[in-house]
Amino acid sequence: MKVTIREVAAKAGVSPATVSRVVGNYGYVSQKTRRKVLAAVKELGYRPDSIARSLVTRATHTIGLVVTDITNPFFANLVRGVEEVTWQHGYTLILANTDEDMQREKAVIQTLQEKRVDAFIVVPASSQGSPHLQEVVSQGIPLVLVDRGVHNLAVDTVMVDNEEGAYKAVSHLIRLGHSRIGIVLDNLKITTNEERLAGYRRALLENSLTAEESLIQSCRFTQHSAYELVSNMLAGHERPTALFTANNFMTIGAIQAIREAGLSIPQDIALVGFDDLEWNLVNVPYLTAVAQPVFEMGNIAAQRVIAQLKGEENSVMEIRLKTKFIVRQSCGVPSQTNSGRRSNPKLDQEI
Ligand code: RIB
Repeated sequence: MKVTIREVAAKAGVSPATVSRVVGNYGYVSQKTRRKVLAAVKELGYRPDSIARSLVTRATHTIGLVVTDITNPFFANLVRGVEEVTWQHGYTLILANTDEDMQREKAVIQTLQEKRVDAFIVVPASSQGSPHLQEVVSQGIPLVLVDRGVHNLAVDTVMVDNEEGAYKAVSHLIRLGHSRIGIVLDNLKITTNEERLAGYRRALLENSLTAEESLIQSCRFTQHSAYELVSNMLAGHERPTALFTANNFMTIGAIQAIREAGLSIPQDIALVGFDDLEWNLVNVPYLTAVAQPVFEMGNIAAQRVIAQLKGEENSVMEIRLKTKFIVRQSCGVPSQTNSGRRSNPKLDQEI
């Protein structure tokens, strides 16, 4: 049976109107009363009908979109994918960055709640418990996670098959004869990197190769951090013969480090990157990459939050989109046409 607002009111010892103000985050409520109501909401598992909420709370027709770094083309594409759908349904986005920082994520979520956004779409800065996101759920505000998930937070989540994508990339390098394959990751507290590392380990394990911890390294989410990490990795004895970079910024930093070390791709070191972006086609040799359907991921995340706002959906969904592994020239077997000219990167094979 669906828990009613009256049951919550009775539990908290307040009026239904007070519960409505707390859940709808409008009007005045003392902190003491707010705490009592939220405790009752959580204990009873109350989820307000979003239609009733929007009627009473005078919806603002805005959606808070929280990403980690809008200067990253991946997130710029994601935002455009979200906005294509939300705009069609009469919602305006309010965008905020978190720089992969949990405290900053908490602060922007709080501010957007004070601005009374009708819903949230969030790229979480951590896969671990996020009390501020749990609070959003407890208050019955529609929330969808995109690109990464949060463990033990049962909300709609739209991601790609990170583990399978990484597994395909590293298996390809192994098929080419590489056994000392480094992996370059950034924030280890997010599910994308947890899953890409798992795919890397599975590929090695299935080929009876050991995952040397010295070849598994992580840094901050910036290109420069990746450059410094790979420079050190290449300077060490027994450098890897191949690198798997876990996202676009790691790839850019790695390419810079490889070139500054006087090494060539793929002759001295093979390179496969997660994230395929337009610059791959201007960078020679053309990058072998795991392509994510970023724009589509944004579309679907927006469709889910609109469905929640319309009260059309109450079941929580985890949606996984397929990645595409595109073999070009950076992983050890230049795809030369029979005339010996470089092939057209647009035509390179997808496997
Ligand atoms: O470039 C940003 C990366 O971090 C992407 O791979 C995306 O999946 C996110 O995890």
